[in-house]
Amino acid sequence: MSERTETGRPAGQQENGRSAAYDSAFLRACRREPVPHTPVWFMRQAGRSLPEYRKLREGIPMLESCMRPELVTEITLQPVRRHDVDAAIFFSDIVVPLKAIGIDLDIKPGVGPVVAEPFRTRADLDRLRDLDPSDVPYVTEAIGLLTAELGATPLIGFAGAPFTLASYLVEGGPSRNHEHTKALMYGDPELWADLLDRLADITASFLKVQIAAGASAVQLFDSWVGALAPADYRRSVMPASAKVFDAVAGHGVPRIHFGVGTGELLGLMGEAGADVVGVDWRVPLSEAARRVGPGKALQGNLDPAVLFAGREAVEEKTREVLSAAAGLEGHIFNLGHGVLPTTDPEALTRLVSYVHEQTAR
Ligand code: CP3
Repeated sequence: MSERTETGRPAGQQENGRSAAYDSAFLRACRREPVPHTPVWFMRQAGRSLPEYRKLREGIPMLESCMRPELVTEITLQPVRRHDVDAAIFFSDIVVPLKAIGIDLDIKPGVGPVVAEPFRTRADLDRLRDLDPSDVPYVTEAIGLLTAELGATPLIGFAGAPFTLASYLVEGGPSRNHEHTKALMYGDPELWADLLDRLADITASFLKVQIAAGASAVQLFDSWVGALAPADYRRSVMPASAKVFDAVAGHGVPRIHFGVGTGELLGLMGEAGADVVGVDWRVPLSEAARRVGPGKALQGNLDPAVLFAGREAVEEKTREVLSAAAGLEGHIFNLGHGVLPTTDPEALTRLVSYVHEQTAR
């Protein structure tokens, strides 16, 4: 991490206009360029597995914590300092832009996002206006603080993908079967398409705010899209996700696309337009590369539950991931989904250094 710049250039930016993180292992791997070692970061690295996080968050509700730039900065930096990961992920949540445009929702501890009035009819579309940067000044401010602190360590911005956001809005909260969401998708395809299109605009606007503020990569989380068959994904979801990727193309910022249980969707997710496709632990990376096709880097894919086994098991499963990744054009090491809250943070620190050691060139 480096000091704040005194040259008058935006913090985190070099003389040539490139970000100070441009040549980091993480951004090089996203661009499928040679790397000094395989870069590592963890989804949900900023959060409950860290005692220093739990301490900072004491008495502060989740959504409120996302609106305090100094707190966001500190929480985002905690895993970077502790684990020496190759990238930071911005501390926020996928429902923050919805809250910012006035949707009545909360994040309930141990439950997740809960929406007061679920979306079910055409009239509900009126509640979904586009997001303006002035709706989220705390995001711009926090990213400014962060890029100054992070120096050459890249910051990943993120947003929820239209399908995953729609699932929370339509169900009203977390859901196992997504039955109301699918009922709308199958039963009223026109309203569904309009809803997803609206969410695509909000998501694209939220990502653009983060890019303008200095994020050096963006990840679209479509966590629950694995609930869909490929034909339904192609017809009813892919156009909206593709719209988001198109909207944030051309900024020189790699775009990552991640979902869980997406083995059958990997080819289509690649087609939706990202530069990097995130893979869960169910498909070996060599096979994922075949499904995604050429011209994309892959991110993944150690089962987060492996970290509960002993050190030797973690190392063995890590070598399996690395060997499946050996022929890839670009590989970013990550877990196949987020860090589980009761993970031993020391196991994460050891994992970062193990991957760095094993892949040093
Ligand atoms: O990755 C990071 O460390 C950055 C922060 C981040 C959070 N949420 C913070 C958070 C990110 C990238 C997210 C994304 C997110 N939020 C997703 C996509 C990623 C995934 O896991 O699939 C989803 C589906 C959500 C919705 C959401 N928000 C859930 C399911 C939960 C957990 C509910 C619970 O308490 O079990 C949240 C709350 C949340 N978001 C927490 C954190 C650290 C926990 C709240 C707390 O600490 O009190």
